Amino acid sequence: MCGIVGYVGAQQATPVLLEGLTRLEHRGYDSAGLAVLASSGIKVAKRAGRVRDLAGGLPKRFAGKVGIGHTRWATHGPANDVNAHPHTDAKGDVAIVHNGIIDNAASLRQRLADEGVDLVSDTDSEVLAHLVGRSEADTLEGKVSEALAAVEGTYGLAVLHADFPDRIVVARNGSPLLIGVGEKEMYVASDLAAIVRHTTTVAHLDDGEIATVTANGFTTYRLDLTRTARDVTTLDIDPGSYEAGDHDSFMHKEMLEQPAAAERVLRGRLDERFGTAHLGGLNMDARETRAIRRVKILGCGSAYYVGQMGASLVEELARIPADAEAASEFRYRNPIIEPDTLYVAVSQSGETIDTLLAVQEIRRKGGRVIGLVNVVGSAIARECDGGIYLHAGPEVAVASTKALTNMFLGFALLALQLGRVRDLSIADGRRLIAGLDRLPELIEQVLAQEDALAELAGRLAAAESLFFVGRVRGFPVAREGAQKFKEISYRHAEAYQTSELKHGPLALISEQVPTIAVVPYDELTDRNVGALHEIAARRGPLVVVTHADVDLGGLDVTRIDVPRSERELDPILLTIPLQLLAYHAALELGHDIDKPRNLAKSVTVE
Ligand code: F6R
Repeated sequence: MCGIVGYVGAQQATPVLLEGLTRLEHRGYDSAGLAVLASSGIKVAKRAGRVRDLAGGLPKRFAGKVGIGHTRWATHGPANDVNAHPHTDAKGDVAIVHNGIIDNAASLRQRLADEGVDLVSDTDSEVLAHLVGRSEADTLEGKVSEALAAVEGTYGLAVLHADFPDRIVVARNGSPLLIGVGEKEMYVASDLAAIVRHTTTVAHLDDGEIATVTANGFTTYRLDLTRTARDVTTLDIDPGSYEAGDHDSFMHKEMLEQPAAAERVLRGRLDERFGTAHLGGLNMDARETRAIRRVKILGCGSAYYVGQMGASLVEELARIPADAEAASEFRYRNPIIEPDTLYVAVSQSGETIDTLLAVQEIRRKGGRVIGLVNVVGSAIARECDGGIYLHAGPEVAVASTKALTNMFLGFALLALQLGRVRDLSIADGRRLIAGLDRLPELIEQVLAQEDALAELAGRLAAAESLFFVGRVRGFPVAREGAQKFKEISYRHAEAYQTSELKHGPLALISEQVPTIAVVPYDELTDRNVGALHEIAARRGPLVVVTHADVDLGGLDVTRIDVPRSERELDPILLTIPLQLLAYHAALELGHDIDKPRNLAKSVTVE
């Protein structure tokens, strides 16, 4: 949430910053701004709206070879020009951009006001500019350190100061920040996407670190300014994976990448001979794996719904009690942490603050946590005792698709390994492996139905309200389907267990309220079909996501048949048409697919 980019070197900073902000816009897009160090001092340009609005309205002379930029997702104060970052101190000598939340902003604002400071914005971030500006330390690092000593909360921070024109000082606590290394030029960013066109050689700051970044290099410190050592790594990332290419949106590109992404997460991890999975990153031997009595999965939003699919996989294959819970709720109920429970944090970004804080809470109480994470080296990945990287590649669209598919597959691998040290037979293990091997091809077959799904989505887009229903394995599929639909089409989409309809929500069924029902070929098919009759009897239009061998008994429905896999793996194939429905409905309604209103990629604030 929110994006930071910075540049120091021989080039003009503004074009580099604008390009970086455009690449970061999925992290927040209600306002944007830049500050550069010009010969006359700091210049700031900022405004509500998109980066393109900022670029269009920049003054002609906005030159400087050191600069910082920001794209905002509002937390404190509405999206307007004044609340946009960068924020400056009273004299205009300091400019800061900030991601995160300053928890004690109210008392700091009061203190500054009592000291006669005129605060111009509604934001928590502005206090940082004043605190740095009012510090009497001799160095910029000293001023930043002193300011941060007064602050409680989370930050990714970049600071310019007119008296120290050769540098950007950055700091991190709970909100990612990395330094990019170029040839006599350096970058800072909250996300590699911002600088990937220039460099993939980076150093990630740790929480509680400050760094000085000049054109010639960087130095890192703890908050008390004692030096730290930070390794530089060159990431093996194709900058092209941050481009939408021929697609109209990243979401479309990312949906179509699912077969290739699925192959990547499975590659080298399936052991056909012993019918099991190899997951070296879990850092658990067979004895420890066998000692697990319960699995508890934690994630937010769609990651939580895939976590529910994962819990079913673990229960079905390993016969270990498993459940998923929203990480955002878990840590607020003083959870009981058990030594023989395996806690699993699932997150695309590896930054989601609620999931990260849940991991920290579990570890503080001595629990073992593994991560299913896409972004290598992200905070959650680093915090866990072990894990499974998802290898989905960079996901830019706010609506998550390929990462979710790979989360599901990560859970399938985990369940297989847990199952094979228990009672899952080698034959069943091999059956699952054969199913996993076939899955990329089957995903391809579902994606090939795009034209028919587009036509159907056009009709669904007209409905103000929709139900998504499913049972047991199908229920998280329905939840994820509703999530995707509401997220980008802004239609009211509600998920229910099919079995619960007649306990209340059936009252809402009418000709105006379509139901999208998930009806796999399984032990519940007949019961599901019974519920469809009850909806049809109330004139509710029906779309059924199902398998070709399911007999819908002459019901008047629109069918979406997906290929059958092994029954445990069916949920992911049933999910993919729902992504395409949401995407085409949003397209029909003319929405910005990759940047849905009010949302942002990576929720790094509570
Ligand atoms: C939905 C969506 C969100 C995320 C959630 C968790 O399409 O993208 O619901 O799934 O914010 O994000 P991560 O996986 O980064 O922890």
